[in-house]
Amino acid sequence: MDKEMSEALVRTGPGTRMGNLMRRYWVPILLSREIGEPDGPQVKVQILGEKLLAFRDSEGRPGLIDEFCSHRGVSLYFGRNEENGIRCAYHGLKFDRNGKCVDVPSAPHVCERMNIKSYPCVERAGMVWAYMGPPGKMPAPPELEWCTLPESHVFVSKRLQECNYLQAMEGGIDTAHVSYVHKYEVDNDPMHMNTRALDYIKADGNVIFTIEKQPFGLSMFGRRNGDADSFYWRVTQWLFPWFTLIPPFGEHVLGGHVWVPIDDHNCWAWSVNFHPDKPLSEQERRDLEQGRGIHCEYEPGSFRPKANKDNDYLIDRVAQREKRAYSGIFGFAVQDSSLQESMGPIQNHEAERLLPTDKAIVMARRMLVEAAIGLEQGVEPPAVNASAQHVRAAGVLLERGADPLAWAREHLADASDQPVYSI
Ligand code: FES
Ligand SMILES: [Fe+2]
Repeated sequence: MDKEMSEALVRTGPGTRMGNLMRRYWVPILLSREIGEPDGPQVKVQILGEKLLAFRDSEGRPGLIDEFCSHRGVSLYFGRNEENGIRCAYHGLKFDRNGKCVDVPSAPHVCERMNIKSYPCVERAGMVWAYMGPPGKMPAPPELEWCTLPESHVFVSKRLQECNYLQAMEGGIDTAHVSYVHKYEVDNDPMHMNTRALDYIKADGNVIFTIEKQPFGLSMFGRRNGDADSFYWRVTQWLFPWFTLIPPFGEHVLGGHVWVPIDDHNCWAWSVNFHPDKPLSEQERRDLEQGRGIHCEYEPGSFRPKANKDNDYLIDRVAQREKRAYSGIFGFAVQDSSLQESMGPIQNHEAERLLPTDKAIVMARRMLVEAAIGLEQGVEPPAVNASAQHVRAAGVLLERGADPLAWAREHLADASDQPVYSI
């Protein structure tokens, strides 16, 4: 990939091409529980290179405003969250959740000149989402399947990943890596173990990919031998601009990710699990809270993984030699983040030498850049319409002669009235 294309993809701050594209979608900002109580402590958040402040006002509504006071630039993190607004601790200016200045104690008549930036928020799946784009273009709130379910059916976590969003998200699109770094993890993980899926995956290491362009993004079809008369297909979905849906294992929870830039050198890796038709069991919830499956354990009081670059991700060379962990690192999330962070804060894309298994990544990059350039020319971005987000991932045995693309169109395009296809 040349320098120009790389720059177009990796830069997401205000006014950048990709930043403008991403701002046309609802953006996950933080967990609802981080601003749990009305009038509770406000939280600093940085998203797409913007320094912002999230808070819950007296009526329980989430707000997302500029972190800094319009008077002389003090951080409102040190202000008071009271009576439906944040009051700056320095000279008492007060701002509501719409960024409107509602009080200038020393000069009330200048109030309307003191407004600050704000973004509208909604809550879905225990997360606060904001719309950071042009006001007239705000789409309906996200309708990914896991955003539409009762709280009991969903578990969401986030972790800090210390690299550009693109190289993190590409791990979610590049399903070929699963046969390597995650190879031994699947046997012992409660969200993967004891499934027929694993038998097929192990019996046939030579997965063959077919990629199909979709109105919402890409569908990746991975084919392995199934039984004598069938193939085992794993269907992964990538949705504009940063959602991935992982093919499920047996009766275990379905899963997915969202990859959201904090700035150009860091991103939030959101990890989601859900059952479409039933609550998570207590055991499942406990396992997920303890960092099993696609989640992780944290450094105390933070969203930074306990295994991070400062401790070599707790690499265990004995476990690597004994084939308990392929790279010597445990946990799907950190297995991925260790390798992706090792590329540097922004991977040198000019130096990479891509292989045939990178086809999906190449297509996704191209689609993102085309959408970003299209936006500059007035073309509306793909999949902003929430109804385009109803798609689901699957793992399914199909007769050898069957066309998986036609099957997916019929059974995965709109998940709401379909059974879960998983073995
Ligand atoms: S800097 Fe905020 S009120 Fe003066
Ligand atoms: Fe992975």
